[in-house]
Amino acid sequence: PWRRKFQRQILAWYAGAARHLPWRENRDPYRIWISEIMLQQTQVATVRGYFQRFIAAFPMVADLAAADEAEVLRLWEGLGYYRRARQLHAAAQEIVAEHDGQFPRDFDDVLALPGIGRYTAGAICSIAYDAQAPILEANTIRLHARLLAYREDPTKTPGQRLLWQFAEHILPTSDVSSFNQALMELGSEICTPRNPQCDACPVATLCQARQENAVAQIPAPKKK
Ligand code: ADE
Repeated sequence: PWRRKFQRQILAWYAGAARHLPWRENRDPYRIWISEIMLQQTQVATVRGYFQRFIAAFPMVADLAAADEAEVLRLWEGLGYYRRARQLHAAAQEIVAEHDGQFPRDFDDVLALPGIGRYTAGAICSIAYDAQAPILEANTIRLHARLLAYREDPTKTPGQRLLWQFAEHILPTSDVSSFNQALMELGSEICTPRNPQCDACPVATLCQARQENAVAQIPAPKKK
């Protein structure tokens, strides 16, 4: 069936294509959390250095919780969106106060932390714990819109509903960590906004936009 083939091809491709990134060295949920917050606003190339400095200063949740906010903000300087740094600090303090300094394992507990929404909770729980949690962010919105040849604005409510449902539908029963990272990698490296490399795409034969010769038109530009 389609889904099995899709999962197999995605995972096989990722086994050979995964970039070595500092937050992929292990599956510490704390490190994955920091990286996902940084990656929400900033390119991978820039995040690398910020991530290394941040983790060197605060190796564990308790270190971040105990830090002065000024020190956290100093390490964030240049990344922008300083509210995210403040929420990170507040969430670390909440983890110390309510979870004994252990990053929570339960999806709903993760989702309840300041600054963590459905995407970030899904990313952390799937990447760190292999939880059966879907993800949907900029790269995978574009990828899925093309796979489905979805021609409406995929960032609006009906598109979001459909694409979250699709993201859930395609999840494998194991290896969700690699699978979700593979989807983001495919979106950022192959299924790019301009000039996507369909020749190098492991799921080109399953892509409806490609079938309809409409890859360049999808996703539709945002309407105001
Ligand atoms: N963008 C956001 N999170 C990412 C991840 N885990 N891998 C690749 N790109 C990403």
